[in-house]
Amino acid sequence: MKHILAIALSLSTAAGIFCAGAVKPAFRDASLPLEQRVEDALSRMTTEEKIGIIHAQSKFCSKGVPRLGIPELWTTDGPHGIRPEVLWDEWEQAGWTNDSCVAFPALTCLAATWDPDMSALYGTSIGEEARYRGKDVLLGPGVNIYRTPLNGRNFEYMGEDPYLASRMVVPYVQKLQEQGVAACVKHYALNNNEVNRHTTNVVIDDRTLYEIYLPAFKAAVQEGGAWSIMAAYNLYGDRHLCHNDRLLNKILKEEWGFDGAVISDWGGTHDTREAIEGGLDLEFGSWTNGLSNGASNAYDNYYLARPYLDLISKGEVGTAELDDKARRVLRLIFRTAMAYDKGDGELCSEAHYDAARTIGANGIVLLRNEGGVLPLRTEGRPNILVVGENAIKMMTVGGGSSSLKVQHEISPLEGIRAAAAGIADVDYARGYVGDVTGEYNGVVTGQNLADSRTPQELIAEACAKASKADYVIFVGGLNKSAGQDCEDADRAGLELPYGQDAVIAALAKANPRTIVVNVSGNAVAMPWVKDVPAIVQAWFLGSEAGNSIADVLFGKVNPSGKLPMTFPVALTDNGAHATGSYPGAKREGSDILDLEYKEGIMVGYRWHDTKKVKPLFAFGHGLSYTDFAYGDVKADCKEMTSDGSMTFRIPVTNKGSVPGAETVQLYISDPKCSVTRPAKELKGFCKVFLQPGETRELVFTVDASALSYFDADRHKWVAEPGQFLASVGASSADIRSTAKFTLK
Ligand code: GLC
Repeated sequence: MKHILAIALSLSTAAGIFCAGAVKPAFRDASLPLEQRVEDALSRMTTEEKIGIIHAQSKFCSKGVPRLGIPELWTTDGPHGIRPEVLWDEWEQAGWTNDSCVAFPALTCLAATWDPDMSALYGTSIGEEARYRGKDVLLGPGVNIYRTPLNGRNFEYMGEDPYLASRMVVPYVQKLQEQGVAACVKHYALNNNEVNRHTTNVVIDDRTLYEIYLPAFKAAVQEGGAWSIMAAYNLYGDRHLCHNDRLLNKILKEEWGFDGAVISDWGGTHDTREAIEGGLDLEFGSWTNGLSNGASNAYDNYYLARPYLDLISKGEVGTAELDDKARRVLRLIFRTAMAYDKGDGELCSEAHYDAARTIGANGIVLLRNEGGVLPLRTEGRPNILVVGENAIKMMTVGGGSSSLKVQHEISPLEGIRAAAAGIADVDYARGYVGDVTGEYNGVVTGQNLADSRTPQELIAEACAKASKADYVIFVGGLNKSAGQDCEDADRAGLELPYGQDAVIAALAKANPRTIVVNVSGNAVAMPWVKDVPAIVQAWFLGSEAGNSIADVLFGKVNPSGKLPMTFPVALTDNGAHATGSYPGAKREGSDILDLEYKEGIMVGYRWHDTKKVKPLFAFGHGLSYTDFAYGDVKADCKEMTSDGSMTFRIPVTNKGSVPGAETVQLYISDPKCSVTRPAKELKGFCKVFLQPGETRELVFTVDASALSYFDADRHKWVAEPGQFLASVGASSADIRSTAKFTLK
């Protein structure tokens, strides 16, 4: 017994010595409340160490606190997949061989699913890829509102309607962050076109700001719980967004209660004092004066680095702002890099490819299907001719910072060939030559798309083959080249590039069963819209593009996507262009342009409905291979109180012979109001999957917030008593049933 006791004593003493010598600091104790960990770490840090964590130390990472064992914070692009590793100081590739990823569909496609469950799947999947790659902050998702069809980065965003974008961004953020990877929702705010993105000063009234351009960011923060926000390049109120007191401090942090970190866009910081007082917490990508790319002490010259430290040392500024910035960055680190339950993630897993393929197929929009030419019939082993450069060109490389290095990308032609194996014969003709390059920051597609034939020769070949085919599938659109849906450049017009309209017109003459598959992140003009029986809007769909497209064309998946933006007939049918307020007016003697959002709240279908401008295809439009019948919408009462709610019920039936999903949309109108309001506004939607013959009663419940407009003078949301109209439909232009009700 004595012997055992002696051993026990010696062990406990050893343990005691061990514990006494290395008491775990509170910030390391993940069981403690976050704020306690933050305060403990902050109390241990010097001023230099606090300065050290609020600016970058490389192209994509910021410093931790080595003395305390607080790790670096790693960020990565982008919204559709995890960017390949670059060199410490450069955009150029690090040349790793284990950083190929899955490219998920572009966010316009995700929005087009109108399915928050798809958003959740997306957030989980991309979060697992980021976690596996050791990344703490994903620089996305983007939720800038689709104001003009020319914006080069619309493909990275979630469409023209603030309610749809709000509903779709929240699950993505929540599930991404469950992986211990922070969302960095961008580009906050008013970055709605790419041309002059560093010098555009947006002039906008408060009502438009609050009703249209802020809601998706607010939802991401207040419902999604976003841990970081990326401030945009442009200006608002003559202040750069990266240090904009009103948008970052007054609205984001004070009004919305955002407790995360504001990260600058790369190179978006321009002034130390403004950055100190204007709400910036973490500076990346700056090219400060006297700084050359890759200089040895480059990062010490950052606006929030030595210049800030000097101001503190000289007593010209205090340290209150510094402590707030450091707290926010520490919170970000503890939620990500120092979160101990974040799992290992996974890269290029089967589950991720399945997710990409499913999201893609569910986001594809069947715009037109005259005579039910789709899905393709394969009885009798038909001949299918595929035409177009977008049937073979890799789309995951290019487009700007969202460009990726994928493990594989299934092209539309490959996907169609795989689906047709054994049941149809597939031939190909180029049709047109667009952009034969394929490289971004050192990532190359490896494709040789060179073709020296003339447009006439290419069209002649395609038409000769088309005249003998049972089906012609033209795959065209845009391609993420500069000016064709790409960062830092806008499109020059609505038209398809590379003479595609002529090819489509010729094919339609050669074969009445010509199907157009438009690959783009933006609306395009379709002068041939009545010449072809079927049109499919296929977004930039990522690694599984060809399979998603084939799943829909061959009917393996019944298309259920709906447009998240209006397709206008002509550019001037769009509010931003009809009012002549794009791309803004240059200021005398300055490089600043003032861009006034003259259409105000009348963005997208709000403009088309209110100004009675018929669109080519309406917001919310999307067909199915089955038919859905809507019953009459019933309100559960005729009157609603301002603190109450109103419920609408509508039966929907699948009248066709195949299962399918329909997104039923609820719009609210306020026909008599003291202020001008859009004809109607989306305030609810529900995607329902129905077997043939099945009927489901959908229930929508709204409260006064769905009836409100933003009263800028009173700075509050106001629902004016009076009569309202609830409209339920299959799109903003296809209302099936309405119900009047009164707000008391
Ligand atoms: C780019 C983009 C931003 C991206 C960042 C890092 O300029 O505007 O979306 O995340 O820089 O690449």
